[in-house]
Amino acid sequence: MIIGVPKEIKNNENRVALTPAGAKELIKRGHSVYIQHTAGEGSGFPDAEYEAAGAKILPSIEATYEIAEMIMKVKEPIESEYKLIKENQLLFTYFHFASYEPLTKAMIESKAVCLAYETVEKADRSLPLLVPMSEVAGRMAIQKGANYLEKPLKGRGILLGGVPGVLPAKVLILGGGIVGTQAAWMAAGLGADVTIMDVSLPRMRYLADVMPANVKTIMSNEYNVRNLIKDADLIVGAVLIPGAKAPHLITRDMLKDMKPGTVLVDVAVDQGGCIETCKPTTHENPTFIIDDVVHYCVANMPGAVPYTSTLALTNATLPYAIQLADKGWKKAAQENADLVPGLNVINGEVVYEAVAQAFDLPFTPVEKYLA
Ligand SMILES: NC(=O)c1ccc[n+]([C@@H]2O[C@H](COP(=O)([O-])OP(=O)(O)OC[C@H]3O[C@@H](n4cnc5c(N)ncnc54)[C@H](O)[C@@H]3O)[C@@H](O)[C@H]2O)c1
Repeated sequence: MIIGVPKEIKNNENRVALTPAGAKELIKRGHSVYIQHTAGEGSGFPDAEYEAAGAKILPSIEATYEIAEMIMKVKEPIESEYKLIKENQLLFTYFHFASYEPLTKAMIESKAVCLAYETVEKADRSLPLLVPMSEVAGRMAIQKGANYLEKPLKGRGILLGGVPGVLPAKVLILGGGIVGTQAAWMAAGLGADVTIMDVSLPRMRYLADVMPANVKTIMSNEYNVRNLIKDADLIVGAVLIPGAKAPHLITRDMLKDMKPGTVLVDVAVDQGGCIETCKPTTHENPTFIIDDVVHYCVANMPGAVPYTSTLALTNATLPYAIQLADKGWKKAAQENADLVPGLNVINGEVVYEAVAQAFDLPFTPVEKYLA
């Protein structure tokens, strides 16, 4: 198969969909890989590394879309790319269709095959191509939180791990899923006093088993939240209710109960946030302050560490990309059920029900194409 990797053009997106190592794996299997000039540069992979792996470099985005049977990307195509997409071309990338109607309509019009990273799903309902970014964001939440707790950045001026003779900082983590667990590991490793809140007892039993002694778990409810925020130095929002807006566990009125200089990192901001006062911010302007409480609410945290994020993402996407390249999308989906819910739009038809519902569009069951 001919695989094309365009350079991401979305503002501040430095990740790339394929590393030189990934290119080599595909080329070894007899596929051709074309990389747009400088596509890997933002992640630390120069053209020469792709060439050494056997890929060819193309000068423009137009040439990359023109030649490819499968396009591998990171973010959804943006408007200037719509016209470059060809009928029957396979696009393997994040789409988040339900949040943007013009993209959905453009992909229907293109008659391409759109396989969305975010809806590839395993039998246990986990989302293997979203997990790596949650892992990055969870770990980063503590790095950022520790930083903003410093006085010059308007934090309380407390060191997460304390020092001998001085108590460590208190870190409260709302939600003990992927983000929350990774955040807890990082905070515990730095010596902080960590509490994870969740509503799932099985999850908290698991966490209690695997976490070090400086991590405790407690049931998430309003009473406990109100109590614990008074003492917390750093609070990480990591709640997810699949398919729904995040619940506001911390409301506006609760800020006055917090210590001045408390730092809130609401990782769940991309689903509306679990802290009422959090509104999406960017890496250029990541924080704002309300009632002396520092809010960090960057909606694409992994974007700040493109080297790690690209490797984490491609570790997860490459096995699927290899199947798609070896077998074509139809046979690959017939033989690997994870890929079936990833199919969102095929040949001008919406085959993912939630996307059709979001914009009141006709829905075609994906089975029509897999029979
Ligand atoms: N900002 C970013 O850059 C970024 C990056 C990656 C992920 N995210 C977001 O982070 C959020 C968390 O993702 P995840 O992968 O950890 O999800 P997850 O499904 O693994 O974990 C969510 C956890 O929240 C718990 N939960 C649900 N309701 C709760 C409540 N009322 N109180 C406490 N806990 C509750 C669940 O039991 C679950 O353990 C998502 O919104 C995701 O989109 C943001």
